[in-house]
Amino acid sequence: MANVTVIGAQWGDEGKGKLVDWLSNRADVVVRFQGGHNAGHTLVVGNITYKLSLLPSGVVQGKPSVIGNGVVVDPWHLLEEIRKIGEQGVSITPDLLVLADNACLILPLHRDLDQAREAAATNKIGTTGRGIGPAYEDKVGRRAIRVADLADREALEAKIDRLLAHHTPLRRGLGLPEADAGQILADLEAIAPQVLAYAKPAWRLLDEVVKSGKRVLFEGAQGALLDVDHGTYPYVTSSNTVAGQAAAGSGVGPKGPGYILGIVKAYTTRVGEGPFPTELDDEVGKHLGTVGRELGTVTGRARRCGWFDAVLVRQSVALNGIDGIALTKLDVLDGLPTLKICVGYQVGGQTLDYLPAGLKAQAGITPVYEEIEGWRESTQGARSFRDLPAAAVKYVRRIEELIGAPVALLSTSPQRDDTILMRDPFQA
Ligand code: GDP
Ligand code: IMO
Ligand code: MG
Repeated sequence: MANVTVIGAQWGDEGKGKLVDWLSNRADVVVRFQGGHNAGHTLVVGNITYKLSLLPSGVVQGKPSVIGNGVVVDPWHLLEEIRKIGEQGVSITPDLLVLADNACLILPLHRDLDQAREAAATNKIGTTGRGIGPAYEDKVGRRAIRVADLADREALEAKIDRLLAHHTPLRRGLGLPEADAGQILADLEAIAPQVLAYAKPAWRLLDEVVKSGKRVLFEGAQGALLDVDHGTYPYVTSSNTVAGQAAAGSGVGPKGPGYILGIVKAYTTRVGEGPFPTELDDEVGKHLGTVGRELGTVTGRARRCGWFDAVLVRQSVALNGIDGIALTKLDVLDGLPTLKICVGYQVGGQTLDYLPAGLKAQAGITPVYEEIEGWRESTQGARSFRDLPAAAVKYVRRIEELIGAPVALLSTSPQRDDTILMRDPFQA
């Protein structure tokens, strides 16, 4: 298959960035298609660590990259991320990066609203506070400012007025100072030339790329359980994170996404609020957090940790049409005498093999576990499946069986090259 789509199959932070970086030398273009700078993708190459939130992870290998229309873009953050990665020796020029001219912008007023709502809420979502939700609301409400508007002062002025007609009463209600239309206009005009340098009809470029037989790698952000439709609503992000969004969020048509590679952590984590059936509030949970260095890239919050949940991942395989998975962070389980895998849910006296949609049902789940023997040996840095201890192989095989998808790649450390290829997604 010519194209590959990488998506998170759990609650995000599965290791998408590492895998996209690794796969990007097999691709011609790397594309982000949803989310914004709520994402935090960490790439480790030798002794250099790159942290990306908005830029597609292919940029580190010098691959042409696209920020698609489905992404909400904070233009100040974009320029800052380009500057920062430039300091690490990765030069981003308009030859390398294309920003869809029809992508919607995140403005400071979106961040204000996100943070003020979270501060006022009794039932917090635990957002990243970066304005993602409010920006998507304005997009769907047809009052967003889009990249192309930066080139048209008249349109921009009218759009700011329309936007403030909506935001002024909201701000008032939350006790926020009134936003100043003139200031917003001036701030946007100050950065417009720098941002517009990257702006193009991205769908057109991708159409040419696909027609010329080149390979596209789509990079998802967040994970399927944070999807606004399919996730643990309302404890989700505000975009569709499932693989189907790769097409709409970049404009390539439904056949574009190609092979769907689900990135799956060998255990489960979640950052922010919301149900988490296999969460461990004990020493094992702490152990996973410490060994796995489970600290949020964007907010620095500790990620909640728990056992592998095969019910969730099996659901994710269906929701995304996953062809194969990349199993990451197997090394974090090294040394644990016994491992548990959740194979079913007990909810109100019933046994379920899927995540129920109701909030109360989700919060009342008791996981049904299967125990599996752990391994003493280190798998860290393993570069071949044959090097893995027999118990680790058994764990991987049991996961494949339970979720109904094969392992295509295995990751055994944060380092780019500590990756075992079992089936090449681009050749499948
Ligand atoms: P993403 O949001 O899906 O790109 O994932 P993050 O980068 O937020 O979180 C994954 C973290 O795990 C990062 O710090 C990676 O460097 C690290 N990581 C990725 N793969 C592995 C692995 O196989 N083993 C270990 N120990 N760490 C990994
Ligand atoms: P990557 O791409 C993990 C979570 C937040 C919060 C919820 C809503 O690194 O996997 P938002 O700011 O999007 O409105 O927050 O979604 N969240 C993530 N959790 N990884 C991410 O991205 C996330 N992006 C958002 O913690 O619970
Ligand atoms: Mg992350």
